Amino acid sequence: MRVFFCQESRWQVYGQVIGCSRRGGRGCPNGIINRIVARYYRYPRQQGGRKAVAEVYKGLLSVQNVGLCKTRVGEAVELLLAGTLQQKGNVMTAEFSSLHGKKVMITGGLGFIGSNLAHRCLELGAEVTIYDCLDPRSGGNLYNIEQIKDSVEILYHNILSFEQLSQHVVRKDFIFNCAASTSHPFSMREPWIDLDVNSRGVINLLEAIRRFNQAVKFVHIGTSTQLGRLNYEPADENHSEFPTDIYSANKSVSEKFVLIYANTYQMKTTVIRLSNVYGPRASIHSPEFTFNNYFIGLAFQGKEITVFGDGKQLRNTIHVDDAVEALILSALSDKTDKETFFAAGDQHYSVAQIAEETVKCIGSGKVTYVDWPKSRKSIEIGNAIISNQKIKKILNWRPRYDLQSGLIKTKEYYETCLTHYLR
Ligand SMILES: NC(=O)c1ccc[n+]([C@@H]2O[C@H](COP(=O)([O-])OP(=O)(O)OC[C@H]3O[C@@H](n4cnc5c(N)ncnc54)[C@H](O)[C@@H]3O)[C@@H](O)[C@H]2O)c1
Repeated sequence: MRVFFCQESRWQVYGQVIGCSRRGGRGCPNGIINRIVARYYRYPRQQGGRKAVAEVYKGLLSVQNVGLCKTRVGEAVELLLAGTLQQKGNVMTAEFSSLHGKKVMITGGLGFIGSNLAHRCLELGAEVTIYDCLDPRSGGNLYNIEQIKDSVEILYHNILSFEQLSQHVVRKDFIFNCAASTSHPFSMREPWIDLDVNSRGVINLLEAIRRFNQAVKFVHIGTSTQLGRLNYEPADENHSEFPTDIYSANKSVSEKFVLIYANTYQMKTTVIRLSNVYGPRASIHSPEFTFNNYFIGLAFQGKEITVFGDGKQLRNTIHVDDAVEALILSALSDKTDKETFFAAGDQHYSVAQIAEETVKCIGSGKVTYVDWPKSRKSIEIGNAIISNQKIKKILNWRPRYDLQSGLIKTKEYYETCLTHYLR
């Protein structure tokens, strides 16, 4: 604890943590740490004092080699002081550590979000089962689990099989439903398939859980496009739902199934609504899925990114690590039972901005602007401004990435394995 009684060595410690060589108090570049020291060190008695700072110091030492950026160190410090010790991101929080040793089943675990979730749950010490039929019309990709394939159980089954689900929901502590027919345009071409997977499949899961494992915590993923055109901004969880495509309509109704089962049978179920998730392990090769991932794929190939109209409509985007963190936090808290949350990014960007920033961060590609095609105009919803206040308040969840830092991290991933994603 010597460090807290000597100005020079204190900054030395902070300097190491944030990767800066300057040691003088005034020179410390991290405003958050400065603030915290002012709050907790200079006024030790009033603020809980040196003991709190000592905790911070211990925590900082444990995170110092993980290459955190300055703001993440700041957040880590805040978390440590708030008593939710340990790590976030590369760093584990106390809440997250309770996943250790738990049995987790992820339907759709070969897909974009499900596979990222599987990686994270494994890192946190969970026993992971992936339940996925590798539907060729969805974004599943075996390469998504290449590094963890020997550490997870993989069941190649369909959520349309009630028998298989009934067998496999037993003895699980957590079930995340990431299986879905995930293409908006496909749902308009093949509405029956979308209805089956996105509505009937969810009933299968809920009914299997009700009959064979009512104690499990079930987390279902919804989508912000359930709302359709917004009546007010930012839209929150009480906003009405008038979806403009079949996929979003089925996501809307299946969310209600989840809440009906929660209320009627006292099941522990939660819905996390996401929007425009991007990052590693996505279907960047196809316009059928999330537009921002497709932009990333086009940029990597040095191709044109086509933006309809002026591209001024605002969108919420979220890096997949932030989405995964929201899913896990919601699973670990009782406060989320019977509730729906938007896990949305803090900032909103226009489609044009997203396209331009993608080209800039990936370092290739070009943005062009064309008139709206009729088929797309009819399902376009205008600005989609979403509030993340509820999840922030109840779960203390915070998105970690803005668009630029998220794209840079995404680029690092695809650079090592692009051929597996550009089929
Ligand atoms: N990606 C986004 O931006 C976004 C936004 C909002 C909501 N969501 C929701 O998040 C969840 C995951 O989406 P994603 O982007 O990872 O999709 P994805 O297409 O990458 O993954 C879906 C996975 O589900 C599997 N699957 C499809 N039908 C199945 C079935 N009948 N039985 C078993 N497995 C089946 C697929 O094989 C695939 O691996 C979905 O519920 C989606 O609606 C995604």
